[in-house]
Amino acid sequence: MTTTEAGSQRRIQDDHRSIRELLAALGGSERVGELTGLLEELRGMLDTHFAFEESETGMRMVVADQSPERMPELEALFHEHGEIRGDVARLLETSQACLRLRDALVGRIKRHEAQEAELLSSALYDDIGGSG
Ligand SMILES: [Fe+2]
Ligand SMILES: [Fe+2]
Repeated sequence: MTTTEAGSQRRIQDDHRSIRELLAALGGSERVGELTGLLEELRGMLDTHFAFEESETGMRMVVADQSPERMPELEALFHEHGEIRGDVARLLETSQACLRLRDALVGRIKRHEAQEAELLSSALYDDIGGSG
């Protein structure tokens, strides 16, 4: 293995460690806001990681040199990068939509309660004014 290949392997292993840590945080996330932030972070991390793996100095170089017979496996894994990106994008879109719906609901209920409060105080004022 050349120095460049060893460096490439080390970088990919470091990336995998960072991704595993982020996945552990993502898997334990129970709050939608936190989930959305972690997914945004994961999207950026995977973009960089996948781009490096697919680059000429990434996995292609190491596998082609050390285990050329396994290149079809590598191509299948590279194909899965696109599917994983799609999964992250869909989940991120869903969690962002969830936050937008939450904001709309909070705003609607606040307006609703304010209108009722205004109606009640107005009716009470009219009642006091009428009887007094
Ligand atoms: Fe990877
Ligand atoms: Fe990969």
